[in-house]
Amino acid sequence: MSYGNKSKEGLLPRYLLAIESSCDETAAAVLSHGELIKSNIVSSQVEIHREYGGIVPEIASRKHLEAISLVVSEAVERAGIGLTDIDAVAITQGPGLVGSLVVGLSFAKAFAVARGIPFTGVNHLAAHLASIFLEPDTPSFPFIGMVVSGGHTSIYRVDSMLSMELLGRTRDDAAGEAFDKVAKILGLEYPGGPVISHLAAKGDPAAFDFPRAMLPDTPLDFSFSGLKTSVLTMVRRLERDQSSLPIEDLCASFQEAVVDVLIKKLILAARNNDISEVVVTGGVAANSRLRQRLSSEASREGIKAFFPSPGYCTDNAAMVAVAGFHQLKAGIKAKVDADVYSRQFS
Ligand code: KG4
Ligand code: ZN
Repeated sequence: MSYGNKSKEGLLPRYLLAIESSCDETAAAVLSHGELIKSNIVSSQVEIHREYGGIVPEIASRKHLEAISLVVSEAVERAGIGLTDIDAVAITQGPGLVGSLVVGLSFAKAFAVARGIPFTGVNHLAAHLASIFLEPDTPSFPFIGMVVSGGHTSIYRVDSMLSMELLGRTRDDAAGEAFDKVAKILGLEYPGGPVISHLAAKGDPAAFDFPRAMLPDTPLDFSFSGLKTSVLTMVRRLERDQSSLPIEDLCASFQEAVVDVLIKKLILAARNNDISEVVVTGGVAANSRLRQRLSSEASREGIKAFFPSPGYCTDNAAMVAVAGFHQLKAGIKAKVDADVYSRQFS
């Protein structure tokens, strides 16, 4: 992963304001002395997008624009400080929805320039990986880090806060996207992850044998589109043959297929790299079946699994603050002409 411009002088901000607006959450947080999250405000647009069964990018950027000043003011107020106490800003620069990212970046730039303070552009995936450092129990470097969200499913070897190597990624849908699409197929609401997880708890994970794409030629890559199609085919067949769908069994069996693949590949990455700590981050890391099964299966292999608490798995600005703090400490600051990027290249 690459970071902006590196200057010689590092910075240790006393009060760092972080902003996240890459998708459908407008979030702001204040980090004090690189250690303590003083406030963490998340304004979700989920109710608005639910009506459409998924995120509508144009609506998302307009809602960010409406929310951002209020969310930042609330974060500063809850932190018990004034705007003039903030001495640096961290902002998600990409990947994500361009229109949404632009709202956050423009706000951060204007704020930083007006106040004459530095700002740093944070990679959203690096921020998810950094979210584990919001917890009291942290891994040591190097560790295997996985980001499983609505937009990404990637495995990294993380050597430091600023250096991570991509080991594998999804070739098609992200795991969270698979949850969202399967929810839609089953007539459930958006986002699919929490609702499928809830229903799956009452279902039989072995009721349907859905495919697990292991991709032997590139074993650390993922593919979830075949699984989604397989659920769709099964649902069509069941709808033809019987009156009501066994929703709970379908949810449990689908979830089990995703969880199986994520666990196998994570443990394989740890073994291949001779690393005994794995970290799972991103919205899907909130999944309780994944948390339970990975914790016990990893420990059988002598591997320790770390998860951020559920509130830090889904998009938030506290994780941006942690990643941003370490960048500023290393002297990585953005220039005023910095632009957003929609896609991840490494
Ligand atoms: O990290 P995140 O908030 O946003 C992105 O960066 O994409 O992740 C959102 C994704 C959605 O696809 C949502 O369905 C999924 O995370 N998700 C879950 C759970 N909670 C959220 N997936 C499975 N189980 C959950 N409990
Ligand atoms: Zn995310």
